[in-house]
Amino acid sequence: MQVAPSILSADFARLAASVARVTPGADLLHVDVMDGRFVPNLTIGPMVVEALRKVTELPLDVHMMVAEPERFLADFRRAGADLITVHWEACTHLERVVSAIRDLGALAGVALNPATPVECLIDILPEVDLVLVMSVNPGFAGQAFWPRAVEKIRRLAAMRGARERPLIAVDGGINPETAQAVRLAGADIAVAGSAVFGADDPLAAIAAIRGN
Ligand code: DX5
Ligand code: ZN
Repeated sequence: MQVAPSILSADFARLAASVARVTPGADLLHVDVMDGRFVPNLTIGPMVVEALRKVTELPLDVHMMVAEPERFLADFRRAGADLITVHWEACTHLERVVSAIRDLGALAGVALNPATPVECLIDILPEVDLVLVMSVNPGFAGQAFWPRAVEKIRRLAAMRGARERPLIAVDGGINPETAQAVRLAGADIAVAGSAVFGADDPLAAIAAIRGN
C-alpha cells in the first residue's frame, strides 16, 4: 500500500523540514485545504502548495474540503498540484468538475464523506482517477477511525473489478492497525496525519502503515 502523509499534522512553522523528514518513506504528500464553510476549519491555500512545490519532488495530493471547488482548480494546478480531489458533496455538477481537473492536466479524485455511499459514483467511475473514502468526518486531524469505511472500500473495490483505476485511497484515523484493515479491504493509498507526524520516528510509522 502507498502512504500519503498529511501535512495537516506537521509543524507549519517548519514545513520544509517536516516534509523532508517524511519524504524517504512517502509516495505522495497530502495537502488538506479547508474553507471554513464545507468544513468548520480553515487551513491553507494555493500559496502554500506553491511553496511546497519548490521544496519537494513528491506528487502533491490536494484534498479540497471546499464548497464550489471549481472556483480554485486552476489556482491549485498552477501552484503545482498533481492530484486534485474534490468532495462529491460539494459538487452539483461533478462530471464537469472532474473533466475540468483533467483538462488542467492533473489527476482527478473524488472524496466521499462517511454518510455518502460509494454507489453514488457508479456512473462516473471510469472518469475518476482516485476515490478518497473518508474514514472520519472531514475537518480535523486526530479523529477516531470510522470502522464502516472498511466495508465501503470493499464495495468500491468490487465496483472497480479487474480495472486498475480508480485508485482507492482512505483518509482519517489511519494508524498501523486500521491501515491493515483497509489494505485487506482493497485500499491502494492510506493518508495519515497524526500517526506519522506525531510519531517519534515518522519513517517507522510510515513503514508500519504501509505494511508490506
Ligand atoms: C481530515 C483530513 C485528513 C487528516 C487526517 O479532515 O482530510 O487528511 O489530516 O488526519 P489523521 O490521520 O490524524 O486522522
Ligand atoms: Zn485529507
